[in-house]
Amino acid sequence: MSWVTPVLRAVGLDWKSRGRRANLRTFRDLIACTNNFATMRWLGNPIWQNVLDLWTIQETLAEVRPALLIEGGTHRGGSALFYAHLFDLMNHGRIITVDIERIHDLKHPRIEAVTASVLDVVLVERLRREASRAQGAVMVILDDNHAAAHVRQEMEMYAPMVTPGSFLIVQDGLIDTLPGFGKPPGPLVAIREFLLTHAEFEVDRAKSERFPFTHHPSGWLRRRL
Ligand SMILES: C[S@@+](CC[C@H](N)C(=O)[O-])C[C@H]1O[C@@H](n2cnc3c(N)ncnc32)[C@H](O)[C@@H]1O
Repeated sequence: MSWVTPVLRAVGLDWKSRGRRANLRTFRDLIACTNNFATMRWLGNPIWQNVLDLWTIQETLAEVRPALLIEGGTHRGGSALFYAHLFDLMNHGRIITVDIERIHDLKHPRIEAVTASVLDVVLVERLRREASRAQGAVMVILDDNHAAAHVRQEMEMYAPMVTPGSFLIVQDGLIDTLPGFGKPPGPLVAIREFLLTHAEFEVDRAKSERFPFTHHPSGWLRRRL
């Protein structure tokens, strides 16, 4: 089996369809022309996201209206700022974004930027308290270290903070399906393992397959009500 087949399956496509194979070529072109999205900007701020996934996240935020969004992986801050601006429009919500290094200059009243490892137990304890005190839904987006073992561990630590009906969004499972994109095993392997012992979560297929290509196959994990 060539590498194409698992990739197409992961994005929900039938490789025998010529039109759908053309979609995959378009996806590869999109990745190539954006330098794997590293050249994207949100209001001038670097944001390392697939624009189609950002749209699905926007729809998810509008639906869930989180009181608290926790983001692992701030990088240059563009994604946290994008979520904060959506929260401004919704007049609701705040963000705690965490990165092991500080390479941003984020200043926004809805954002608290923390410099620490997402696996730091003192930080996680504090975030749990913040989540339990939140006046509404809590959502988590994991976009930091994408190695399977790390993601598996942070999923265990952060999943309990997600409120029923809300989402744990695990980014960049594409690492496990698209050769050359990153070093497997990655997030998709962690997601599959996690789901074996966490029946309280399910993959929201409609969101994960919202567009023909996503960086986050099976990445929208909804906590059951
Ligand atoms: C893919 S970038 C995040 C991109 C950002 N969310 C965006 O969309 O613009 C990954 C970030 O995770 C951070 N990171 C890696 N390991 C980490 C860890 N253990 N804890 C916190 N952050 C980590 C890196 O420093 C890097 O800035």
